[in-house]
Amino acid sequence: MNNDILKVLYSKDEIDTACQRLGKEISQAYAGKVPVVIGVLKGAIFFMTDIARHVDGYMQIDFVDVSSYHGGTSSSGTVELLQDINTDISGRDVLIVEDIVDTGRTLRFLLDLFDKRGANSVKVCTLLDKPAARIVGADSDFIGFSVPNEFLVGYGLDYDEKYRNLPYIGVLKPEIYTNN
Ligand code: PRP
Ligand code: MN
Ligand code: MG
Repeated sequence: MNNDILKVLYSKDEIDTACQRLGKEISQAYAGKVPVVIGVLKGAIFFMTDIARHVDGYMQIDFVDVSSYHGGTSSSGTVELLQDINTDISGRDVLIVEDIVDTGRTLRFLLDLFDKRGANSVKVCTLLDKPAARIVGADSDFIGFSVPNEFLVGYGLDYDEKYRNLPYIGVLKPEIYTNN
């Protein structure tokens, strides 16, 4: 285990099991449709590629890059669109894929953006939901795990751009982010 990790919250196996379950739920929800599945860079990249392979049926994929944390451990309050999708989503069924919904600001920004562009529907699949941290209303339709209000890293989630490649989700030792 990485030395900066206090404890593992979800192992690779637990994440795999959640991806299978969510893949089934998404397959049923979009049966006969071709959703545009939009991964939110960079955190959702690992979850996006894993979950897509558990969904039966056709889909289009795209990515949007937004940022609100700017390297720290708490949301800055402003969401920036760093890189847009290049798919025309007017009249389409959009599924946003996130690694975590924390304050809800990123998700609210994207829900409003895709609504404005005339999507037929916009749903959300997030691996982790942290309801205790919510500041802005933004609900997900497909949720892997509801998590406690701790700073988590791994499987896409970073602290200062590190730890994204850990195969599990863990709690970072507090001294890692309080001493610098
Ligand atoms: C993180 C995370 C979500 C968002 C959730 O992304 O991946 O996208 O913050 O926080 P919120 O609910 O408070 O908006 P971040 O902005 O750190 O960019 P990253 O995915 O590139 O790490
Ligand atoms: Mn993100
Ligand atoms: Mg981040």
